Amino acid sequence: MKVLVVGQGGREHVLAWKLAQSPSVSEVICAPGNAGTAKDCRNVDIAADDIERLIEFAKKENIELTVIGPEVPLVAGVADAFEKAGLNVFGPSAKAAQLEGSKIFSKKIMKIAKVPTAEYWVFRDTASASNYFEGVEEDENFRDQPVVVKADGLAAGKGVIVCKNHAEAKEAVHRILVEQEFGEAGSQVVLEEFLEGEEASILALVDGNTIVALETSQDHKAAHDGDKGPNTGGMGAYSPAPIVTPELMDEIIEKILIPTVHAMKHEGCPFRGVLYAGLMLSARGPKVLEFNVRFGDPEAQPVLMRLKSDLAQILLAASKGKLHEVDDLEWDPRPAVCVVMASDGYPGSYEKGFPIRGLDDADALENVKVFHAGTTIKDGEVVNAGGRVLGVTAIGDDITAAKLSAYQAVKKIRWDGAWCRTDISDKAREH
Ligand code: AMP
Ligand code: GLY
Repeated sequence: MKVLVVGQGGREHVLAWKLAQSPSVSEVICAPGNAGTAKDCRNVDIAADDIERLIEFAKKENIELTVIGPEVPLVAGVADAFEKAGLNVFGPSAKAAQLEGSKIFSKKIMKIAKVPTAEYWVFRDTASASNYFEGVEEDENFRDQPVVVKADGLAAGKGVIVCKNHAEAKEAVHRILVEQEFGEAGSQVVLEEFLEGEEASILALVDGNTIVALETSQDHKAAHDGDKGPNTGGMGAYSPAPIVTPELMDEIIEKILIPTVHAMKHEGCPFRGVLYAGLMLSARGPKVLEFNVRFGDPEAQPVLMRLKSDLAQILLAASKGKLHEVDDLEWDPRPAVCVVMASDGYPGSYEKGFPIRGLDDADALENVKVFHAGTTIKDGEVVNAGGRVLGVTAIGDDITAAKLSAYQAVKKIRWDGAWCRTDISDKAREH
C-alpha cells in the first residue's frame, strides 16, 4: 500500500522512515516533508494544513493510509475531511483533538473522567481574573504560592507561563488576556496549581475503544544542560524512561488512559489516534499536565526506533477501529537516545540557510539514524530551515552506549551556529 505522512518535522521523518520498513508498504510520501524525508522517501509540496489539496492528492495517488503528524491540521479538521472523503486516516477528529486544542476542554474531560490533574481556575475576561486575584491577595499563604498560567488554545508550545507567585501570575494573565500575546489562543486563560516532581511522556495508540500503550520516554524541554534556560519544543529524548516502572505504567493506564478514552466516547467524541499524556510524577501519584493528540517530537524518534512491529499495519488497524486484532507490539529491549541539534538563537529568532556538513558520515555510524526536523534543500545542499534542525538518534546495549553513539554522530555534523544539550539521557541513569 501507499502511505502519506503529513507534516515536516523530526516526528514525521521517523514516521516515514519506520513506515517505509513495513513489508506491506510500497511507497511513503511526505507532505511537505523536509530534506531527510526527501532522501528516505518522496516529498510532495503540499502544506500540512492545505486539507483540500491533501485529499485531492490522496485520491489521485490511491493512498491507502494517511498519517497526520502535527496538531494544527488535526484541530482544523483534517481527519474529519479525510473520513468524509472515504479515506483511511490515522489521527483524531477535530472535536477529539480539542483535548490538545483547548486546555479548558481537556480539564473538563479530566474532571468527568476523574483523572488526577492540577487544581485549576478559568478566566474568560479580565473581570473574572481580577475577582480571583482580589480574593488571593487577602490570603498571605496563597499569595506566595507558585502557579502556572496557560493560554487555552494552541500556541506552538509557548502558551504556558510558570509563575513564582501570584504577582507574576497576574502579570501573565495580563499578557494573555489584555496584550493578547498568543492572539486568539489566549482568549481564555487557565490558572493551575503548580505541581512538583519528575515529568514523563506516555504515548498510546487508541482506535476509539482499544488502547495500546507504547514504550515510555522522557523529553528534555529546557534549552540548556541541567534543565536550565527557556522552554523549547524539546531538546532531546530517550526511551525507555526507567522512572516509569511496570507498576507505575499499570497505574497510569488504569487511572488516566482508560478513564480518558471512556469519557471521550461518552462525550460523543471517541478518540482515535495517539493519546499523549504529559505527566508530573508527583509525590501523590501521576498527574496529567497536558494531553496531546499526536506523537511527541522528539519522543517519537527514540520510541519508534525501538519498535519492531509493522507500524503501517498497526496504524491502519487503528484507523479502522480494529486495534484489538493487532498482535502485542514487539520492542527492541535496547534503549535509544535522541539529541536535538538546533540553530543559534533557538528558541528565540535564528538565521536560516546555513549548509549542513557531515550528515552522511554521521548516518554511516552503526546504530545511528539522523532524523531531520528543520531542514530543506537549497542549491543542491541541505540547509537549516527551522529552530530544531536534526534529531540525532542512536540505539545501544545500554543507555550509556546509546548516548555515546548519539554524541559521536553529533560531533560529525556541523553548520554555522549548531548547538545541542550535552546531557540528554543523564536523568535515565539516576533511577
Ligand atoms: P504543557 O504544555 O501544559 O505540558 O506545559 C509545558 C511545561 O510547563 C510542562 O512540561 C511543565 O514543565 C510545565 N507545567 C505545565 N503545567 C504545570 C503545572 N501544573 N505544574 C508544574 N509545571 C507545569
Ligand atoms: N516534545 C513535546 C511535544 O511533542 O509536545
